[in-house]
Amino acid sequence: MVVSRSRHKSDRVVVIDFGGQYAHLIARRVRELHVYSEILPYTVSADEVLNEGVKGIILSGGPRSVYEEEAPSIDVEVLTSGLPVLGICYGHQLIAHLMGGEVVRASRGEYGKTLMRVCVADDLFYGLSEVQVVWMSHRDVVSSPPRDFEALASTELSPVAAMRHRSLPVYGVQFHPEVSHTPHGMAILRNFLFRICKCRASWYPEKLIPEIVEDIRRRVGGGKVICALSGGVDSLTTALLVKKAVGDSLVAVFVDHGLLRKGERERVTHLLRDLGIRHVVVDARSEFLSELRGVKDPEVKRRIIGAKFIEIFESIARNFGAEWLAQGTIYPDRVESGRVGVGKSRIKSHHNVGGLPERVGLRLLEPLGDFYKDEVRKIARELGVPSEVVERHPFPGPGLAIRIIGEVTEEKLRVVREASHIVEEELRVAGLYDKVWQAFAVVGDDKWVGVMGDERREGYIVIVRIVESTDGMTADWVRVPHEVLERISNRITSEVEGVTMVAYAITSKPPSTIEPC
Ligand code: XMP
Repeated sequence: MVVSRSRHKSDRVVVIDFGGQYAHLIARRVRELHVYSEILPYTVSADEVLNEGVKGIILSGGPRSVYEEEAPSIDVEVLTSGLPVLGICYGHQLIAHLMGGEVVRASRGEYGKTLMRVCVADDLFYGLSEVQVVWMSHRDVVSSPPRDFEALASTELSPVAAMRHRSLPVYGVQFHPEVSHTPHGMAILRNFLFRICKCRASWYPEKLIPEIVEDIRRRVGGGKVICALSGGVDSLTTALLVKKAVGDSLVAVFVDHGLLRKGERERVTHLLRDLGIRHVVVDARSEFLSELRGVKDPEVKRRIIGAKFIEIFESIARNFGAEWLAQGTIYPDRVESGRVGVGKSRIKSHHNVGGLPERVGLRLLEPLGDFYKDEVRKIARELGVPSEVVERHPFPGPGLAIRIIGEVTEEKLRVVREASHIVEEELRVAGLYDKVWQAFAVVGDDKWVGVMGDERREGYIVIVRIVESTDGMTADWVRVPHEVLERISNRITSEVEGVTMVAYAITSKPPSTIEPC
């Protein structure tokens, strides 16, 4: 069953997800243009897509070929309902394939910036020049459009780089308007949303606070709520929204599992006090660390941490008489965990305390479940969350345990905590902290021989990971100036006892992941 939230009554555009990493970027771009968008898997029926409020449909790109056996497809009724449709890359090829055109494997692929010539004036290209640069990334091409379609544009290798149905508002584009490498991509999406779908620009997350609060109040009634805090912006914003709705019937719970960043517990406690949020801090450091002793496998570590969280929340919910658990789950978390969108295989058992509410018998509140991180930050600012919290990098629930390769020991925790602190501090000094997605240190068991005076000494290898990303689903390593890396390295080797080598991680996601475990 598809989870579709109709809480927001604004005009909506549905992005149909054909796999890969494409759908989120499209959905975010649509929202940047102030139109609410949501991602649905390609397995949805036409009935599930064609709902009230839906003004248009975008078919995402995807990694497959339309002529492969069991290639992802869609109910043709979605294309012929009369609602505007825009197919992008795979979506474009699928429209051609389903409606009688021809898709073939080209002799060579078309990748990167490509010149496209528009040959038919159409609203999709309104205000744009005849020749423009677009970003291509494909091997298959639409060699001839379906009979009822006409080609709108072409490139050297794509005779049908854009097409439209002669009477229905159904479009396909081979290029990617959602990426920044297509300079007029946003203008093309804007034309689709406002000239073709006739959407109204009505999506302003920060203006939805009263509606979100009212929704929480209505659902919770006179019940009690506990809120799992991580110290990050998502869970803090969740707590503030719930507090606005139910006042002191909320208790926020912050668990110190001993895997926190330097100074984190004190920082969070002050913040909660300043914001007037009723809270408890649970000191569970020794319990977590003793259960993690000897454990090397990353998934086992995650499971142990998850189970311990459950135990703690169970007991707090019982004592407080809570029926509800509020979590800072955001939209990509719901899509990644397979609750909406295409159920992707689980890469790591992450994303909040999944499964917790069912186990504890609590009902779940996820007031931020429709929002992307940048939207949560807008809501947080509006609620008066201090900017250093709003701009803070995401930090994973299992904490430093997943930045330690192999067994979690007190010594490795000290190394990774101190080294991460230095990485963050140096980025702040260089004015780079706010420009990157995450920046931290990692440590494992391998040692490197160092010299201290005349003495040979083995020490830890610290790996510094600094990435840029828009939603954590893909990421690139940041080309940090060498002087900044040099300062980071010098400080870590001189200030963190027992480190003899600092390395910089230069692999993007994919093929790597952001966190090492
Ligand atoms: P990966 O390592 O999967 O991380 O590329 C993607 C993003 O998710 C964060 N992450 C987590 N967040 N609990 C969380 O709340 C987790 O178990 C977890 N594991 C990874 C990670 O920091 C990055 O931003």
